[in-house]
Amino acid sequence: MPPQRHRLTLPVSSVAGLLFFGLSMVLGLYVVGGLSVCAQDEMMMGQMGMSQGMMGQMTAGEKDSGDKDNDAKGKLVTYDDHVAAILKKNCVTCHGDGKQEAGLNLSNYADVTDESGLVVAGRSSGSHLIDVITSTEEGERMPPEGDPLPAEAVTLIKQWIDTGLRENSGSSAASMRTLGFQATSATDETGPGAVPANLPKVTRTKTQRRFPVLALASSLRAPVSAMSGYGVINLFDPIASRRYGAIEFPEGEPLVLNFSQSGRLLLAAGGKPVQNGAVVLFDVATGKRLASVGDEPDAIIAADISPDEKLVAIGCTSRLVKLYSTEDGSLKATMDKHTDWVTAVAFSPDGKYLATGDRIGNIHLWDGASGGVILPLSEHTKSVRALSWRSDSGVVASAGEDGTVVWWDVKDGWPLVSKPNAHAGGVLDCRFGPQGKLATCGRDAAVKIWSAEGKELTQFSVADKASVKGHSQPGIRVLPTRVTIAQDGSTVVAGDITGHLHKWQVP
Ligand code: HEC
Repeated sequence: MPPQRHRLTLPVSSVAGLLFFGLSMVLGLYVVGGLSVCAQDEMMMGQMGMSQGMMGQMTAGEKDSGDKDNDAKGKLVTYDDHVAAILKKNCVTCHGDGKQEAGLNLSNYADVTDESGLVVAGRSSGSHLIDVITSTEEGERMPPEGDPLPAEAVTLIKQWIDTGLRENSGSSAASMRTLGFQATSATDETGPGAVPANLPKVTRTKTQRRFPVLALASSLRAPVSAMSGYGVINLFDPIASRRYGAIEFPEGEPLVLNFSQSGRLLLAAGGKPVQNGAVVLFDVATGKRLASVGDEPDAIIAADISPDEKLVAIGCTSRLVKLYSTEDGSLKATMDKHTDWVTAVAFSPDGKYLATGDRIGNIHLWDGASGGVILPLSEHTKSVRALSWRSDSGVVASAGEDGTVVWWDVKDGWPLVSKPNAHAGGVLDCRFGPQGKLATCGRDAAVKIWSAEGKELTQFSVADKASVKGHSQPGIRVLPTRVTIAQDGSTVVAGDITGHLHKWQVP
């Protein structure tokens, strides 16, 4: 008889508007007063319908247990070597060959891993076993009496699940969700990058309020940019200001968008705060979903895809950086040097490095393939908002809420150029263009272009543009939230807090 299951019930409160504010808080953007209703397909930049809105309702609840630490990093965790002893010591008196409370036998591998869903290969956060041993509810937590399982035991069990439920060191990982995804290296692709054609029609949710542009990115190979909307990703030509169409993102709000180096794939990461987080890879030409990796109990706020398309790195509110294989969805490495939310992750174009930044201003440089530690980069005193690599992989730029932009030499972690007052009040984004120029934007409402040597070349004001176009609204200071430079380096595009895009020529 299969054991009876009951899921952890989350205390649910329906809070209209929480989504807007919750996600705005990811960026630290606070909007005052009532926002006016806007038509969904208001035109901007000529023919692009780019106005955003929000869903009327969402639910909030307690986070279920995300994995915290990973003490057993590197070692192979198996049922015989680790898990059996933990279950024997703590569970088998009531769930063994003798007594079988709830019809559950935890004394052998076959019964623990049967089809009942107690454990799901590759997904500890979706495994009922983890729910019961980490529950804080009286009457639900197992074992029902005495102390809960020690954290190390919980970590070991999670790792055993996430690495594929091996029985012993001779067994292979249980088949994880197969993604049917084939990586292609950027170098395999010659010719121009993918351009969307005939994207399927998307039904947009009519929304009441403007939604800030929380993610914006450009292909390095073709005139294609992507911009976040609620439940959708809009694709457009940043140079000709033409719309290609949109791709659905039912996971919620895309908080991160990045094109793969080949321009073939678009990575979208996000989700719903304290509910779920996911990374989805889309085919840029067709808009098809190719794969999804990661399974987080909270929206993913930072993610990138390696240049060979084999790895996805995600930054979590659990302070961890995780590397997933795009081919089988397995967790390849967990990196735990950050002591606060991981707010930015970026692979170098040559794949050698991964740079990651956090909410208290620390940056770490890792080996881009193994996740091994290379260097800490410390200069920022507040949250790192963005990291961007120069196309030669020699320099990574960081943008901080402390107002500073830093150009780092990755050889030794030396800050080659540091601009402490790049944007008064905080820098919100930075992106390199193809010729080494850097675009930044910040709380001073400016978009700036910096030369390859780190000199300020020019600045544009989003507020001016917004007032000319009549986009400004009472109670809202129009701030540029994201910037990107088109693949030919000619055009800079900024998204703003009211969901509009602005563009200028790069000098
Ligand atoms: C002292 C006896 C006892 C021990 C020890 C014990 N359990 Fe239980 N367990 C129970 C009883 C009784 C139930 C049935 C409770 C119910 O149905 O409300 C149960 C039910 C369960 C269920 C199914 C209930 C659900 O929520 O779906 C799971 C899974 C479970 N136990 C796992 C474990 C694990 C894992 C351990 C060891 C870490 C453990 N138990 C240790 C007595 C025990």
